[in-house]
Amino acid sequence: MVDNNFQTAGFLNIPVPNNIDLIKEIHKLKEEKNAIILAHYYQKAEIQDIADFTGDSLALAQWAAKTDADIIVLCGVHFMGETAKILSPEKRVFVPDLNAGCSLADSCPADEFEKFIRKHPDHVVISYVNTTAAVKTLTDVVVTSTNARQIVESFPPETKIIFGPDKNLGNYINGLTGRNMVLWDGACHVHERFSLEKIVELKKQHPDALILAHPECKSVILDAADFVGSTSDLLKFATHSESNKFIVATEWGILHEMKEKNPDKQFIPAPPNDSTCACNECAYMRLNTMEKLYNCLKYEIPEIFIDEKIIEKASKPILKMLEISEKLGL
Ligand code: 13P
Ligand code: SF4
Repeated sequence: MVDNNFQTAGFLNIPVPNNIDLIKEIHKLKEEKNAIILAHYYQKAEIQDIADFTGDSLALAQWAAKTDADIIVLCGVHFMGETAKILSPEKRVFVPDLNAGCSLADSCPADEFEKFIRKHPDHVVISYVNTTAAVKTLTDVVVTSTNARQIVESFPPETKIIFGPDKNLGNYINGLTGRNMVLWDGACHVHERFSLEKIVELKKQHPDALILAHPECKSVILDAADFVGSTSDLLKFATHSESNKFIVATEWGILHEMKEKNPDKQFIPAPPNDSTCACNECAYMRLNTMEKLYNCLKYEIPEIFIDEKIIEKASKPILKMLEISEKLGL
């Protein structure tokens, strides 16, 4: 019997016997419990490989909304687990390590965001999915990087809009759409770390490579990019492009799927500015491990719990996003 109070630790710190075949055991537990494993593209390669489905934040939400599994194990960060729970409140949702937070979601505390909204009356509130459930209760429609442009454009041009919390994505969408959305001053510490100088240096070494960047990057990086898009859009672009070499400015976990889909193409991770490491990693995403995933399935902790009233309010803007995305074929 495992003490549920361990939830404060964020994950179940019970050693996994080293004589077991983790992959086999995870599959077995999954079958026994009618569980589904959903993984974001930034997860460790072995977690992406064992997942039933790997995708970007929009696709993970779409899967969570439609699955008939009893248990969802969301291998990603906390807000992704919350989104799954909000969309499927009757299911049990787990994240192998609940300490997997998000600097972008942390940059937007709900009480501060509420004051910001009050300062801008008559504005529609559009929030990036990288937010807490509490922020989603203050939101009219949620977006991801895959649908942000189209959802903003679904409002008449004169609509006054607050966009939070990612100022880089907000700025980028303002530029694409000619809107003047009021932006919350938040950012992702991983995407803000890319070094233009190091990317330019890489481009000199590989002049035939195209630069791909996630819209959470700073505008200097986006200006230098040949293509800007969400993780799934970067993947699609690389797969359909005639080019054979890419410098990729987003968390380097996506390279796993890029290489899987394009074994003959070369993918070079863009480096961060403050390290000698060639790759840029989201430490939160990488808290989930195969051992924690095994323990999570075996002992059914750590679980995501959300107050019913919050679920009721936060589900509206997420469902609105899914509805618009479906109409747009996204
Ligand atoms: P995607 O919407 O591309 O999955 O991005 C999620 C994320 O956290 C990027 O940092
Ligand atoms: Fe959050 Fe950035 Fe990590 Fe994505 S990469 S989960 S935005 S901290």
